[in-house]
Amino acid sequence: MELNGAVAVITGGASGIGEAVAKGLSSRGARVVLGDMDQRNLERVAGEIAAAGGSVAWAKCNVTSDEDVASLMDLAIDKFGQLNVVVASAGIIKDGLMINLDKETGKVKKAMTTEQFKAVIDVNLVGAFITVREAAIRMANGGWPGLIVPISSVNKSGQTGQMNYSSAKAAIALWPKILCGEFQMRGVSNVRVVAIAPGYVGTPMVKGMNQEALAGILKGVHIGRLIEPSEIADIIAFAAQNEAVDATCLEITGGLIANGLAK
Ligand SMILES: NC(=O)c1ccc[n+]([C@@H]2O[C@H](COP(=O)([O-])OP(=O)(O)OC[C@H]3O[C@@H](n4cnc5c(N)ncnc54)[C@H](O)[C@@H]3O)[C@@H](O)[C@H]2O)c1
Repeated sequence: MELNGAVAVITGGASGIGEAVAKGLSSRGARVVLGDMDQRNLERVAGEIAAAGGSVAWAKCNVTSDEDVASLMDLAIDKFGQLNVVVASAGIIKDGLMINLDKETGKVKKAMTTEQFKAVIDVNLVGAFITVREAAIRMANGGWPGLIVPISSVNKSGQTGQMNYSSAKAAIALWPKILCGEFQMRGVSNVRVVAIAPGYVGTPMVKGMNQEALAGILKGVHIGRLIEPSEIADIIAFAAQNEAVDATCLEITGGLIANGLAK
């Protein structure tokens, strides 16, 4: 796919990986539409892209809302005439053990609440589903060359302390095969699906993690450092340009070989 002139929608585009993807695609000539709940950072990122000479639009959007996400996709088509790349990067964490013991009594003191579980599933799984569905409807109808990129995580393999988050990310890793199978059954050949499973990337989400746990995790990373958001953006640009990349989930981890949290 030619990125110059392509139209990309990025949820979670006001921060971290989404911000880097928006800037990376824009620097390659794509017109970008950002959706996020954080209006201040939406304005900042859009301003920076425009100042660098890019074409950009944005809308405040909660990915758990059917209407918000539909409007975001429509904004891209109304403003720029097509839809080619959709990256579902909006996400949150609410980490914690499912049960936690009191050090003195040895009895259960705390447990993950249903709200703590559901909040992460709502944004990271249901929100990504709505984004992918609204994108696919328009791309199939439009017939434009397209790539849908849901963001999984290396923690799809099951991270201690992230029962909610890992559950969502494991499910997302399956979507490329499911969706490309469905598209093939129905003759939708213009839309590819590639999930990205990053390792630990230096974004506000990771900077907000328990830093002691993060230091332990980094000991198990071959390159010995956090991944740069721009390195994830480069892979997404590559996947967009290379039609051979399809129906798969790419792990970009810097060589994560051990789970530093496991005791
Ligand atoms: N940072 C990492 O190491 C890492 C690793 C693997 C996967 N990921 C995934 O990458 C994606 C981006 O993470 P990040 O590190 O850039 O995080 P981030 O916190 O920097 O950015 C996430 C963005 O999503 C937005 N957002 C949250 N809830 C939303 C909602 N309901 N509707 C719309 N926008 C919402 C936030 O406002 C924020 O701008 C997430 O899906 C995350 O799970 C991140």
